[in-house]
Amino acid sequence: MSIDYGNDIYEEPLVAKTFLQEDVQEGSLRPRTLQDYIGQEKVKENLSVFIQAARKREESLDHVLLHGPPGLGKTTLAGIIAQEMGVNIRITSGPAIEKPGDLAALLTNLNEGDILFVDEIHRLNRSVEEILYPAMEDYVLDIIVGKGPSANSIRLDLPRFTLIGATTRSGQLSAPLRDRFGVTLRLELYTPEELAQIVSRSSGILGVEIVAEGAYEIARRSRGTPRIANRMLRRVRDFAQVKADGVITQEVADQSLCALEIDHLGLDPIDRRMLGAIIRNYGGGPVGLETLAATIGEEAVTLEDVYEPYLMQLGFLTRTPRGRCVTQLAYRHLHLPIPGGNTDLEAMEQLELL
Ligand code: ADE
Repeated sequence: MSIDYGNDIYEEPLVAKTFLQEDVQEGSLRPRTLQDYIGQEKVKENLSVFIQAARKREESLDHVLLHGPPGLGKTTLAGIIAQEMGVNIRITSGPAIEKPGDLAALLTNLNEGDILFVDEIHRLNRSVEEILYPAMEDYVLDIIVGKGPSANSIRLDLPRFTLIGATTRSGQLSAPLRDRFGVTLRLELYTPEELAQIVSRSSGILGVEIVAEGAYEIARRSRGTPRIANRMLRRVRDFAQVKADGVITQEVADQSLCALEIDHLGLDPIDRRMLGAIIRNYGGGPVGLETLAATIGEEAVTLEDVYEPYLMQLGFLTRTPRGRCVTQLAYRHLHLPIPGGNTDLEAMEQLELL
């Protein structure tokens, strides 16, 4: 399996949106079959039907679009589809396909039934996207040879391949591209229970001893995302080996994650800065995304793709037509007084009003 992520491998914090070097190296943590894949039950159920049907008919699988926040297993799922279909997969990404010729080279090297996985498919450029349409629809490649009046179009037949596109922003996909996918699957954030199972499974593969409460502590703090859970597991393993006896207990996990400034709900310093800025600078909101991003010195797309889904799932943040707003739950989490509310949080807590 070839993995081409261009320049997207770099040092970043635990919540990094893209693959880090260790995520690529430790591909061994990825499940290889639908049966080993934990969570996303609806997606697995539907995929299993489509795979069995395609296999029965001895056809290639229809083109599949996977969308959802980063780190939920879109690439993993593509690998599993290839495995279950018994075909090869070629992995690339939207920004890595710069010219129509790059895509032509990828497509003409596929065998019948093979899968082409394009991560960040919303970042394909227009000229590349246009040659993808007839390739997806009719399995042909229209290539222009030469320039000016002597230019000629030649048509090449392609094998019946399956395109699997992955995106964190399906809204940015052009309508003609979106319409050419026969199957669209949305991945959801994982529950702590599912993440605890993933952490336990990964610990087994890494050969690190972990107790159930230790796995749950990591799960609770990994913001619904297996990639973050697995990164946390590796960091907690470091602490366990250096500062404890190598076993990941709840206490070891808690102390390691506190040292990494990950709070008990999994918020990191950027989440806290984001919520804090909306409260302190903009009276709790609404504030536009770009303004907020500039205020805290982060990129708007990072806030939108990486930070907001989890803050919204926790009920700390809402998106309104006029901008982002925080909720009372966020004030409470940051131990900040709720405007116009009873500011004696401890007393309210004792009265179980919160
Ligand atoms: N590792 C990462 N994602 C996983 C998943 N969904 N199931 C099992 N192991 C995983």
